[in-house]
Amino acid sequence: MTGGGYDQRIVTAVTVRVPAKINLQLSVGPPRPDGYHELLTVFHAVSLYDEITVDHAGRGSVTVSGEGADTVPAGDANLAMRAAVALAKAAGLPPRRIPRTAAADGSRSGPGVSIEIRKRIPVAAGLAGGSADAAAALVACNELWRAGLSMAELAEIAAGIGSDVPFALFGGTSVGQGRGERLTPALVAGQYHWVLAFAAGGLSTADVYRTCDRIRSNRGIVVAPPRPSTELMAALRSGDPAEVGPLLSNELQPAALSLRPDLRRTLATGREYGALGAVVSGSGPTCAFLVTDAQRAVDLVVALTGAGVCRSAVRVTGPVQGAVLTSPSEVSG
Ligand code: C5P
Repeated sequence: MTGGGYDQRIVTAVTVRVPAKINLQLSVGPPRPDGYHELLTVFHAVSLYDEITVDHAGRGSVTVSGEGADTVPAGDANLAMRAAVALAKAAGLPPRRIPRTAAADGSRSGPGVSIEIRKRIPVAAGLAGGSADAAAALVACNELWRAGLSMAELAEIAAGIGSDVPFALFGGTSVGQGRGERLTPALVAGQYHWVLAFAAGGLSTADVYRTCDRIRSNRGIVVAPPRPSTELMAALRSGDPAEVGPLLSNELQPAALSLRPDLRRTLATGREYGALGAVVSGSGPTCAFLVTDAQRAVDLVVALTGAGVCRSAVRVTGPVQGAVLTSPSEVSG
């Protein structure tokens, strides 16, 4: 900051790191008139990160590298670019600084911002990778443009981009209600060790919700309003993974398993090799396994990959912080 209280820094090349999420509880109500489902979910951020770097550019652009990069849309369909555009509008930035998205034919138009996304979170995997990138873009562009919006203001913009985007801003462990965008931090003791088993291919979130509705109606299930599991909340406060493991639940799991029957074997193999709990993450197809400690996590990664029941597996811990700046650079203006 220099001179008369006016922030004259020129900030360049802002990098933000943002975590994946898993759901420790996912209870799904009936479809709402707007097509979304009323949820009660417990989000938990884990140490698998995407990284994004934004910078000033003559023309708006998105480049993606890493895990599943070729399946991530570039241009105006990219959630990170949509987040940047929404932030610019909400912050009332002068037109010359508002990024324009790509034209319908895929050509770029500017002026704008360059967004570089380095992915480690698999795409369409039930880990909210796209939402994470959008949250990272909000934090990064807020810094790049010195827009000065608070986290609460960013969260409001985030909710308009996608149901899981507000959680990716904050991370930790939170109860999500509404579409998942209304958050209340949960009291959680300790650190949990997880193994994530990635599947070949992804699942469309909308398809999984539709399949969930169809299964319920075929079986004549009357859907009750989703409620928090007081047992799970108490177990999380205890910090004992052996208490938490059996309480993991996901009402989208039957739908994910009907679309991907191979995941039954993945879950069974994890349990067989000593996981305390095994659950499909969100809309899948990633499976999350809770284990006692770091060594058990290493052993389970070896067992799952050796059994050939996943594309690959990684160990992570949670909860971790949400989107954080890792390398803002600035020069005085
Ligand atoms: O909000 P987001 O774009 O991430 O949601 C993707 C899709 O998942 C929605 O279009 C909707 O079909 C489904 N969804 C839902 N109920 C929610 C969240 C998502 O039906 N609470």
